[in-house]
Amino acid sequence: MSTTVNALTKVVTINSLKALKAEGEKISCVALYDAQMAALAANAGVETIIVGDSLGMTVQGYDSTVPVTIEHMIYHTAAVSRGNRHSLIIADLPFMAYATIEQAMANATLLMQAGAHMIKIEGGSWLCATVTKLSERGIPVCCHLGLTPQSINKLGGYRIQGRDDQQAQQIISDVKALQEAGADLLVLECIPSSLTKVIAEQTQVITIGIGAGPATDGQVLVINDLLGMTQKPPKFSKNYLTGNHSIEAAMKAFVFEIKSGDFPTDKHCFS
Ligand code: KIV
Repeated sequence: MSTTVNALTKVVTINSLKALKAEGEKISCVALYDAQMAALAANAGVETIIVGDSLGMTVQGYDSTVPVTIEHMIYHTAAVSRGNRHSLIIADLPFMAYATIEQAMANATLLMQAGAHMIKIEGGSWLCATVTKLSERGIPVCCHLGLTPQSINKLGGYRIQGRDDQQAQQIISDVKALQEAGADLLVLECIPSSLTKVIAEQTQVITIGIGAGPATDGQVLVINDLLGMTQKPPKFSKNYLTGNHSIEAAMKAFVFEIKSGDFPTDKHCFS
């Protein structure tokens, strides 16, 4: 396993991610929203970028991702794509942009044409038909499970998911169904580390975690958390600007700690 951090010199593809998983090398990912950060990420060796609808909160000042529209996501995906060198770009389909398969197909097309290499959608097995259709038509899909911020009004708050046995079993069966349907990647957010371990043992799909413990194939942080800009940082985040002299150095330190297994530690995880 490599623990040195170099700028990316080759374009990262879905096959590169599969190779990293096969070799047991952890995958780095940063959620960011603009061209300059995208360029710095590639310099810092960040393999995957998520153009996340978290921009509703970090950039636009809303208190959830619900107000984010497909036009906002196209704008930021195009900006990230212009700055990007070699990272694989995953763009979020925002709230209600994939309520039907037809909407998912039309809106995913717009994000791919804006420069995304993969789209991300939030939810469980109800998305299977959508995942299969997008996949069949050449659009790679990442599914986001656990804490799904677009459903915040239904969940009743930003809470850890999968803590009781019924919820945990539901997440495991959703992961299996989405894998079967053709999902290329999963983001697991805010679930107990023990549940992530079970998912890793029982499935083959590539997983990237945020507050999901060390057992995922990779880790993601939102750039604002990584740079210590968030007023009340979430438990799972870490400020990498502390002790580093630049944004690029902070991103490099993040990548290094993912690869070496130094991040996340117990204090970033949920039991
Ligand atoms: O919107 C976002 O930034 C995300 C990441 C936190 C995974 O979904």
